[in-house]
Amino acid sequence: MLQRFFQRLLPRRDSSNECVGNDFVGYEVLLDFIRKRSLHRLEGDLVEIGSFMGGGTAKLARFARRHGKRVFAIDVFDPGADTTATEDGVRMCDIYQAFLEGRSQLEVYRETTRGLDNIVTITEDSKVVSFPKEQRFVFGFIDGNHRPDYVRNDFNLIWSNLVADGALGFHDYNFGLPEVTRCINDLMAEHTDEIGEVREIETQHIVLLVRK
Ligand SMILES: C[S@@+](CC[C@H](N)C(=O)[O-])C[C@H]1O[C@@H](n2cnc3c(N)ncnc32)[C@H](O)[C@@H]1O
Repeated sequence: MLQRFFQRLLPRRDSSNECVGNDFVGYEVLLDFIRKRSLHRLEGDLVEIGSFMGGGTAKLARFARRHGKRVFAIDVFDPGADTTATEDGVRMCDIYQAFLEGRSQLEVYRETTRGLDNIVTITEDSKVVSFPKEQRFVFGFIDGNHRPDYVRNDFNLIWSNLVADGALGFHDYNFGLPEVTRCINDLMAEHTDEIGEVREIETQHIVLLVRK
């Protein structure tokens, strides 16, 4: 499990030798989804819960900037905060601390996202964050604290402000964190009338919900 996480953060290069690494998720699949659904043509911004070192945040922000949009990035920036363990006993906080090798998470994030002035960084526990109802989102991605109460909180935080045809994605679906998967399944069942489409990207352990 730990090895799989590590592999995903190694710098990867695409066919034009551009660096596409340094995020856990592989945000290119999210950007592909956003482009294919033309979510950037809808009215609203992007939001991410769980930015870690900012690699994915920066990718979202470069894309968003081209379309006059902002990225709200919410992270507690405390690598010890999430003590959730995987099925095989690996704690999230230990993974984050191993990656950081003693560096400040916030400093690494600031360096990665430097110059991207369309990022609104919210350095808070996601449970204390709220958005005014006028704040619309066209896309949201949840990869914060892996406790089910947080997964539920983070869903509610974004879903209520997500525009029709907008999409919300979860990371870690069917990926060694059964309580996360169970919580996402519960949320999908509870909101089935509001969901137009569910798309799972198995290779990246992502599930995306399109709002009706
Ligand atoms: C798996 S990492 C995010 C990885 C990132 N999406 C990527 O692919 O590079 C999870 C992040 O959630 C953050 N986090 C943990 N608990 C949180 C909380 N209560 N509120 C906000 N962020 C939290 C951690 O600090 C960590 O940066």
